[in-house]
Amino acid sequence: MSPMNKSLSLVLAVFAATLVLSGCSREEAPEEPQVEEPQVEASPAADAADDTMSPQEERHELMESVKEAAQVVGPMLQGKEDFDAEAAMAALNVWADVGGKFGDLFPEGTETGYDTEAAPAIWEDREGFNAALMKWRDATAAAIAAGPQTLDDARAVIGPAFDTCKNCHDDYRIEKEDE
Ligand code: HEC
Repeated sequence: MSPMNKSLSLVLAVFAATLVLSGCSREEAPEEPQVEEPQVEASPAADAADDTMSPQEERHELMESVKEAAQVVGPMLQGKEDFDAEAAMAALNVWADVGGKFGDLFPEGTETGYDTEAAPAIWEDREGFNAALMKWRDATAAAIAAGPQTLDDARAVIGPAFDTCKNCHDDYRIEKEDE
């Protein structure tokens, strides 16, 4: 057995844990459960943020774009969609983009409000939060540097980046139930 099978099952578990349970309670319209076609714009994360937003809204929007990118790449790693190296790279770039600014969006005074899912642990243990953020950034940067051209390569390098989502959420995100 190749070690790939192990990492794939990890990817599947993490993907399910990260996405299936991650409803966004603040939006009126229910979210589409699945992205039909892999479509990633050059930098939706950049468009999502806007100066008039509160940090709570901005970090929510950024995580939404992270989720959309994950919904493109996750089904590919699961073998449900054809592997598309360009689309996978575009998704990784969204993660890298958000990873670069996410850490600035948790100033004092934004612990609550806007139905935030940010856990108090972010303010109580900023070092741990920053470390979790760096894990994601490092794993994403490594995946981008690897430039996976095949599904197997993608699983090997994007799988670890998926792991870092859950790693951070476990301690620093409170998942709110959808009503
Ligand atoms: C360093 C920590 C960290 C990492 C890494 C991280 N997230 Fe998050 N995520 C958060 C926090 C904190 C929130 C809550 C933000 C808020 O509500 O203010 C969140 C929220 C979300 C949400 C809910 C969106 C919303 O606000 O309603 C989704 C979906 C999500 N993350 C997906 C992902 C995926 C997929 C990855 C990996 C590709 C990832 N996250 C990586 C910390 C992280």
